[in-house]
Amino acid sequence: MKYTPAALLAIASLAARRAGEHVIANLDRRDETDSLSRHDVKHRLDVESQEVATATILAACPDYPILGEETCDTPLPDAPAQWVIDPIDGTVNFFHGLPWWCSSVAIQANGRSLAGAVYAPQLGLLFEASIDTPALCNGIPITVSHIADPSLALIHTGADKSDVSGRSFKFMRAIGAIAQRMRITGAAALDICMVAAGNAEAYFEPGIYLWDIAAARLILERAGGKCEILRSYENYRMAVLTTNAVIHDRIKEELDPLFDHP
Ligand code: IPD
Repeated sequence: MKYTPAALLAIASLAARRAGEHVIANLDRRDETDSLSRHDVKHRLDVESQEVATATILAACPDYPILGEETCDTPLPDAPAQWVIDPIDGTVNFFHGLPWWCSSVAIQANGRSLAGAVYAPQLGLLFEASIDTPALCNGIPITVSHIADPSLALIHTGADKSDVSGRSFKFMRAIGAIAQRMRITGAAALDICMVAAGNAEAYFEPGIYLWDIAAARLILERAGGKCEILRSYENYRMAVLTTNAVIHDRIKEELDPLFDHP
């Protein structure tokens, strides 16, 4: 590859920042949705900020295709690497005016993230990492927590948006039983960055998408954490467990058997 990890990270960070800044510049358009459903919102600014991120990436690196949440139905050509964009992770939060959302950009090769950035403009947080640079939050190195006892753990989770049958609740019940406290904050990339920064011990979700986690998982891994895809489904969907690493096996032990229960 002709780009260094540091160069790829600079592009990812710029694209995530520009996507987030486009949203911030248009906060008065918070109610401009393309569709609203019981578990999801398709927002006009999601589409526009993906276009902003795409233009930023293509200006600096036209060599690789781009998988974006808003264009995920378009098949990508075979290529040695691909960019992955989630223009607004936490769209439902954003729609309601909750500042807990972010723009996420990563580049992956062979399923592995090489560089990634997660920008939460209303929280003033920029998380970044590449395969040969440390995980940073606003330029300062971050590391995972050392809590090894699940009963002292803060565990973030979420309800899979395609989960109309409430399947997510059996996992939530189990997390509630093992954790010190469970949190459902509504933006997976930020949940994972919280684990990376040592502000939570784990994040689990039974149905999440590649663009939600592509950047954040690298940030977590570079901060000393562990990310494991517990199940893979079609259309870029998966069940994921991310932890501070020391607590990983204990939480997996509790959650993994539940996939096989109705
Ligand atoms: C969603 C958020 C949410 C998670 C959903 C995701 P989106 O992403 O990350 O926290 O529970 O599963 O789909 O749709 O806001 O990009």
